[in-house]
Amino acid sequence: MDLDVCLIPQEITEERINNKTVVVIDVLRASTTILQAIENGCRSIIPTSSVSDAMEIAKQFDRDSILLCGEREGKKIIGFDLGNSPFEYTSDKVFGKTLIYTSTNGSKTILKFHNVKNVIISTFNNLEATASYVASLSNHILITCSGKLERFSLEDAVCAGYLVNVLKEKYHFHLGTDGAVAVSQMANQFVDTYQLLMNCSHGRFLMNIGMGYDLEICSKLNISKIVPEFIDGKIIKKVEVQT
Ligand code: MLT
Repeated sequence: MDLDVCLIPQEITEERINNKTVVVIDVLRASTTILQAIENGCRSIIPTSSVSDAMEIAKQFDRDSILLCGEREGKKIIGFDLGNSPFEYTSDKVFGKTLIYTSTNGSKTILKFHNVKNVIISTFNNLEATASYVASLSNHILITCSGKLERFSLEDAVCAGYLVNVLKEKYHFHLGTDGAVAVSQMANQFVDTYQLLMNCSHGRFLMNIGMGYDLEICSKLNISKIVPEFIDGKIIKKVEVQT
């Protein structure tokens, strides 16, 4: 089975997606926040690409059953219930709720794959669980880094590299493209994921806006056994893997 990696979403083509399992990574912070919300029992998460789409979709629901969630420029959107810090997504807030979620990069990347059968949301927190689940699907894999505003993000590429290396070493996947080889090598250079997040540009941006407290949880390896999957327009808890 082959592994391919898109370093930014703009690299995605129909041909690269074709018949593959897709993994979307946005370490800071969409993937981490989505995972946290699923861990804490939300019903599902509906990603949207814009604030206005989120507001439109919200009209289809009883207001008490949903939460409007997400960020622009890292901060909670005016009128929304939650921002984009994983710490906001506690079970007392999200349990049983449908979250309508928009973020600058992550939610838009996920939506690019609305026609794909298996779209997994991954981050440092659930790498081993992701690897175990995607390996069980016995399919070629395309890992996509969300990046930032059409630019490369170091933390997403390194996380992709960690995942590639687990899939290569434990499940015997083959590095099918230069993107997969590049992130695999890159991962070996960054053994301290917390230092990585403190030094990458989005990590420094979050520290500058007073949200540096999110970096530690976003850097933690394998604290979750849950694999969120985007199916029919919604992200749900697909499996809880025993790793
Ligand atoms: C995004 O999707 O761009 C991020 O999650 C931004 C953020 O850190 O809030």
